[in-house]
Amino acid sequence: MDRQYFYSVMNGEGTLDYELYLNTQQLLSCQKDFAAFCNGDELQFQVVHQVEELWMKLIGYTLLDIDDYIQQENTPRLITLFRRVHLAQRLMIDQLALLETMSPKEYQEIRRQLGNGSGQESPSFRTLLKMHQPLWHSFKTCYLDRHNLTVEKIYDSEYSHSDAYVVAEALAEFDELFQKFRFHHVQLIHRTIGLGAKSLKGRSVELLNEGLRTTFFPELWEIRNRMTDAWGARYGVVRDSLGGH
Ligand code: HEM
Repeated sequence: MDRQYFYSVMNGEGTLDYELYLNTQQLLSCQKDFAAFCNGDELQFQVVHQVEELWMKLIGYTLLDIDDYIQQENTPRLITLFRRVHLAQRLMIDQLALLETMSPKEYQEIRRQLGNGSGQESPSFRTLLKMHQPLWHSFKTCYLDRHNLTVEKIYDSEYSHSDAYVVAEALAEFDELFQKFRFHHVQLIHRTIGLGAKSLKGRSVELLNEGLRTTFFPELWEIRNRMTDAWGARYGVVRDSLGGH
C-alpha cells in the first residue's frame, strides 16, 4: 500500500458536518506527525494515553452530576450515572492490555521521548483523586446523617437493601474499579519495564504499591471486616467441616 497516500488522507478534509461537529481535524492531529514517531508502537502509546485521559474526563464530569443527585437524594438518576462511570472505568482497565502488544525493547525507544513525564502528572487522574472526599461528605450528610443512619446500620443491624445501601455499593464499586485500574497498571509496568526499575523521576516503581493499598471509602471496606469478625465471634472463626471431620 502507498503509505504516504494513506498518511495524507487519514485526517480527512475536516469540512463535513461529522468532522466539524467532532472536531476530527484537531482530534486526529493530537498525535505526533507520522514521520516523527520513533517506531511503529509510538502511535498506539500516545492514543491509549489520550483515550484514557478522555475516559477520566468523562468520569470526573459524571461524578459532578452524581454529587448533585446525591444531594437531591435522587437515587435512580445517580445509579444510572454510576453505571456509566463503572463502564468507563472497565474500559480504562481493558485498554491497558493494548500496551502489552508492545515489546519491552520498543518501549525503551518510546521512553526516551518522554522527558521525565509520569502518569502522576495526568490532569484527569489528579482531578479524580480529589473527588472522593466531597462525594463521601455528600453521601454521609444526605443518605446517612439526615436519616439518622450509619454505615453499620445500612449494612447490618438495620439492613433492608435501602437506597442508602445501594448508593454505598455504587461508591464501593467506583473505589474497587479504581484499585483494579491501579493493579492492572502495575502489572503493565511489570511486563514492560519491570518492577525493580526506577521511574523517569528516579523513584522506585515499587512506590506504586502504596497507591494499591489506598482506598477512597475505607468505612465501606471496614464494615465487612467488622461483620465477619462479629459473625465469627458468634458462630466460630474456624468451623467444623460439613463432612464431620
Ligand atoms: C507501558 C506503559 C506504561 C508504563 C511503563 C508506565 C509506567 C509508570 C510508572 C513507572 C509510574 C510511576 C511514576 C512515578 O513514580 O512518578 C506510572 C504512574 C502512573 N501512570 Fe503509568 N505507565 C504506563 C502506561 C500508563 C497508561 C496507559 C496510563 C493511563 C492513564 C497510565 C497512568 C498512570 C498514572 C495515573 C500514574 C500515577 C499512578 C498513581 O499515582 O497511583 N500509565 N506509570
